[in-house]
Amino acid sequence: MEPIRILVVDDVEETRDNIRRILSFDKDIAIIGEGRDGLEAIQKVKALSPDIVLMDMNMPRLNGIAATEKIILENPGVAVIFLSVQGEAEYLRKAMMAGARDYLVKPFSGDELVETIKRVYQLESRRTNTGNNQGVKTSKPQVVTIFGTKGGVGKTTIAVNTAVQLAQAKKKVVMVDLDLQFGDISVFLNLSPKRTIAELAQEGNEPDIDLIESYMIPHLSGIKILPAPGRPEYAELITAGQIENIIAVLKNHYDYVVIDTPPLFNDTNLCALDLSSQVFLVLSLDLATIKNVKLSLELMQTLHHIGKTKLVLNRASEDMGIKVNNAEETLEFLIAAQLPSDGKICVSALNKGIPFVISEPNAKISQAVRNVTELILQDKGYQSQLKEKRMGSFLGRLFKGGSDNNVKRASNSGE
Ligand SMILES: Nc1ncnc2c1ncn2[C@@H]1O[C@H](COP(=O)(O)OP(=O)(O)OP(=O)(O)O)[C@@H](O)[C@H]1O
Ligand SMILES: [Mg+2]
Repeated sequence: MEPIRILVVDDVEETRDNIRRILSFDKDIAIIGEGRDGLEAIQKVKALSPDIVLMDMNMPRLNGIAATEKIILENPGVAVIFLSVQGEAEYLRKAMMAGARDYLVKPFSGDELVETIKRVYQLESRRTNTGNNQGVKTSKPQVVTIFGTKGGVGKTTIAVNTAVQLAQAKKKVVMVDLDLQFGDISVFLNLSPKRTIAELAQEGNEPDIDLIESYMIPHLSGIKILPAPGRPEYAELITAGQIENIIAVLKNHYDYVVIDTPPLFNDTNLCALDLSSQVFLVLSLDLATIKNVKLSLELMQTLHHIGKTKLVLNRASEDMGIKVNNAEETLEFLIAAQLPSDGKICVSALNKGIPFVISEPNAKISQAVRNVTELILQDKGYQSQLKEKRMGSFLGRLFKGGSDNNVKRASNSGE
């Protein structure tokens, strides 16, 4: 079993340390981050996609209830467990109405905490698993778009190497090169496509899987590629409607559809963003990129894509005079993963046409790509219906349970 990924949110450092200490003894549980208030909780959930948030009630800047409301709305697959002090029954009811899954009254024992986390996680997994019993994560197909505001920031490098790692994790993966003018996935993989998405687009508007696959090239890593057109002028032959049809079909036949993009908010990219369950926005630590990423995040918010967006910092080890913390503060968004700079490995991999996760699996940069791949594998995507289910069952449980004043902690399963 992969460890349950926990975010601990409490304004008291000692409490966070105690929880960390208690949970460090359990190999099924991993603390992946900490927050000091509701605002940090929201940011860290976006960036880290935890399975469970342990949330304090009263905190500066934004309290736990308001934070939970926002978290559940934007990240319906995340479960919140409240940690409260005695006498906050009224608050607890509000917390549950905000979508919390359970609560513990301080002081609680280590066993109580571990047992509650595991129970909530199992319950949540059953809900997010669409009725089958294979593992704890959703088996829903995922469309993952790698996006960026700038050319050369590392989108294709990250897209290709994560796609290969997904295939290494035994997933069925197709890459779609939506950089329709200058797409270079084929170069990264040393492939020479004869047929591309441009010719496929000429076939008519509603292709089936056999037709699409006849335009794809297999790579020895196990992934398949739907290549970009051979010439930039063919890009305009392809409409957003055709892209939508192609992705819709591929989604039904692959575990992961990984989409590489040009740095534009154009029709085809907007279509990819709409259809994606996860979007990785790649950035580097220079002022122009940060300014443009900030604008992009605002646009993603307007387009309602912010809940599925994660930031990946590329060339993190280069000293550009801007600190990661400062960038995060400016962006009001946390960076979910970082890749070091390694020109030697990257350029040599590109020139040989062999992704570095294959030729240099133990290099630091390959290990760093694994973090991105893990984020993709762990993501539960959008399950907006969960909020209503969760609220319904929680309220039912609460009101069945009798007077709030007598409730010390919520009853067991919530079902
Ligand atoms: N972490 C890194 N360290 C060093 N070099 C890198 C790193 N990531 C990418 N590169 C190099 O930077 C160049 C641009 O990378 P890549 O093609 O992935 O960017 P891109 O965002 O897809 O660009 P475009 O918008 O032009 O498609 C390539 O030569 C690649 O090898
Ligand atoms: Mg590219």
